Amino acid sequence: MDKTPQTLPRESYTYSASINSEIRRAADTGIYDIRGGGAKRKVPSFDDLLFLGASISRYPLEGYRERCDTSVTLGTRFAKKPIELKIPVTIAGMSFGALSGPAKEALGRGATLAGTSTTTGDGGMTNEERGHSEKLVYQYLPSRYGMNPNDLRRADAIEIVVGQGAKPGGGGMLLGQKITERVARMRNLPIGIDQRSACRHPDWTGPDDLEIKILEIREITNWEKPIYIKIGGARPYYDTALAVKAGADVVVLDGMQGGTAATQDVFIEHVGQPTLACIRPAVKALQDLGMHRKVQLVVSGGIRSGADVAKALALGADAVAIGTAALIALGENDPKWAAEYDTLGTTADAYDDWHEGKDPAGITTQDPELMKRFDPIEGARKLRNFLAVMTLECQTIARACGKSHVHNLEPEDLCSLTLEAAAMAGVPLAGTNWIPGQGGF
Ligand SMILES: Cc1cc2nc3c(=O)[nH]c(=O)nc-3n(C[C@H](O)[C@H](O)[C@H](O)COP(=O)(O)O)c2cc1C
Repeated sequence: MDKTPQTLPRESYTYSASINSEIRRAADTGIYDIRGGGAKRKVPSFDDLLFLGASISRYPLEGYRERCDTSVTLGTRFAKKPIELKIPVTIAGMSFGALSGPAKEALGRGATLAGTSTTTGDGGMTNEERGHSEKLVYQYLPSRYGMNPNDLRRADAIEIVVGQGAKPGGGGMLLGQKITERVARMRNLPIGIDQRSACRHPDWTGPDDLEIKILEIREITNWEKPIYIKIGGARPYYDTALAVKAGADVVVLDGMQGGTAATQDVFIEHVGQPTLACIRPAVKALQDLGMHRKVQLVVSGGIRSGADVAKALALGADAVAIGTAALIALGENDPKWAAEYDTLGTTADAYDDWHEGKDPAGITTQDPELMKRFDPIEGARKLRNFLAVMTLECQTIARACGKSHVHNLEPEDLCSLTLEAAAMAGVPLAGTNWIPGQGGF
């Protein structure tokens, strides 16, 4: 018998199996990888923060007897009809085209049951969503796909999309497989041909003419509807300040973990700042302008639980928006379709080819047969449940910190587990009062 000691094969960190596989894929096809979802790499996140909770120096509230309010009003600066929500979690803009009509219906129904809003997306307003969403935010996008001035009036708020966290500075994509007759009609583009959404608005180039655009939209909507500006996590301090200067009622800030329906993988993984790093600079900009809580801040990008919601609020957000987690709640990427994910060369939890239109769960598709698998009523029930759990979790944490409203959570309630998170979130490293870059011991 051979007694020679064996060493295990050593995989290189630099040239790992997944890196090598991507090099081979690029060499075989000559095209870059497009996919849906958000950044898959690990970046500093809400997981790196903890709540301190109350003890002697802070007094907690009693869970089953004492009230902890979760309501939020968005658009109090100029709009005659601000949006009143029962919970601080909203549904982010997701395009019709990326999502099916029944998926949009389920988002509308589920959000309405939970007392919150949904948001349209590239591709316009569907009757499914308008019909079932009590509070619907209409996106005004660089692509103008599906743009209709009458829909501005049918909406409850307008969101001017400047950028997304998954691809700040970039546009979206919708591949021909998903451009059915209906999607093409709504976008005024040909059937079955790949579409690329523009990365910047054709009718304004900077904050001064954005201000004029906003006034134009206010006139069209009789100064009733709140106007949100959505920015990707690029330069959050200056972008927030400029959004305020341009006249926004609400700033929506989407960090790099934020999902997308489809864009280049290189973009998703290498452009933009983590959500955690974006919040404090945005809040600082609002504070410096005397606008914190007057212009509301909605944060998105990688929010998955009530703990994430509570952490975003404690850092200064007024509400959060969820995209990917809402889709998972509806039934996207469900392991019950394991055999079909296998056929597509993936697994339920890794499936990200939402742009291909072959979604076994029938949500990110326009294929009539696959769409039949998705029941919007059942999807809505699950989304409503998930939103209720997120809210209860957030309330539980707020009470433990002695707060009678989730908006009373503050950075002082938090500590950081890592130096990076401490520096980015401006929250002391656990066990110290040290915030890197801000002195202390
Ligand atoms: C399927 C899908 C479609 C999306 N479509 C749009 C869109 O049309 N417009 C937009 O501003 N953002 C779009 N987004 C981004 C979301 O609005 C939001 O910024 C992001 O999903 C938040 O991050 P999360 O997915 O981690 O919750 C889309 C996201 C997903 C997952």
